[in-house]
Amino acid sequence: MYFPIDLKSDTVTKPSEEMRRAMYEAEVGDDVYSEDPTVLRLEEKAAEITGKEAALFAVSGTMGNLVSLLSHCNRGDGVIIGTYSHINNYEGGGLSALGGLFPMLVDDSSGIPSPESIGEKCLPKNVHYAPARLLCLENTHNKCGGIAVSPERFAETVEKAKDMGLPVHLDGARLFNAALAWGADISVYTSRVDSVQLCLSKGLGAPVGSVICASSDFIDRARHWRKRVGGGMRQAGVIAAAGLYALDHNIDRMIEDHENAKRIAYILQDGGLAVEEKGRQTNMVFFSIPENGPTASTLIDSCARRGVYFTAMGERRVRLVTHLDVSKEQAVKAAEIIVEEVKKPE
Ligand SMILES: Cc1ncc(COP(=O)(O)O)c(C=O)c1O
Repeated sequence: MYFPIDLKSDTVTKPSEEMRRAMYEAEVGDDVYSEDPTVLRLEEKAAEITGKEAALFAVSGTMGNLVSLLSHCNRGDGVIIGTYSHINNYEGGGLSALGGLFPMLVDDSSGIPSPESIGEKCLPKNVHYAPARLLCLENTHNKCGGIAVSPERFAETVEKAKDMGLPVHLDGARLFNAALAWGADISVYTSRVDSVQLCLSKGLGAPVGSVICASSDFIDRARHWRKRVGGGMRQAGVIAAAGLYALDHNIDRMIEDHENAKRIAYILQDGGLAVEEKGRQTNMVFFSIPENGPTASTLIDSCARRGVYFTAMGERRVRLVTHLDVSKEQAVKAAEIIVEEVKKPE
């Protein structure tokens, strides 16, 4: 069955039958008392994969990032953060609203801020300045085209932060995509940072959840913050089981999503569309619609009528995301329909 083909995001996946069975059979307890065995197993596994001492299950990537920032910083602290980062654009300004933190914006249009830009934000101690206390990075970088930042570029920027005495938090909502794109283990990234947030409900295909991985002390603080923001869960093993299943079964297959994204990109390019190639691509395809074509919202409506769904990222900029509920055939079909609809006379 081809339709619907939903390329809005990799968050739209539905749990498979096997994943649902794992959820149904999950052993549970009260996780606020740290008595849910399935949550504990998920946290142990996440800590092991990332090479950290401990981990904490959070409701969402947004909560994972917020709780991490609150655990690193105090009110009035400056957080160096990319202008195009998810935390800066799509998390409701939670770092300021709930943490009283001051975002210090740096250019991350290439996927990661330059080491120099980090140095420029670390000003001498002075009553006029908010002190920079943390650097946040994102990999893969969503708004910059889903590109995977290389381990080398990542290391350069992190090294600069360390030289300046700053800890580093990584928004690794799609870190497995980044590592797969570079044929690396995620530890090439996680070993360099102080805390990392991994989403279970994106390419991994779980219905909900994220894990924060860091030192045991940090996770103790994060557990307190998670409770304060209302994220303490009770029999959460039911959802943690889906995350565990995803970590056991759905990491390596994400390479198929990258291949499907490439298939889509080729067809769009062949059809004369300007596909962005900003770096090493993963499961996202961004393209621009030419001036003589429809606007993004018109294209979205006409494709939706044919069962193909995606997102506008600007008046003529469009984003497509592949995931485990999109087959090779569906990827090809969706790209063909998009090209036809762009070219259709008004
Ligand atoms: C890079 C990045 N970080 C964090 C998040 C937040 O995740 P959630 O939607 O689970 O809050 C997203 C969601 O799309 C994301 O793309």
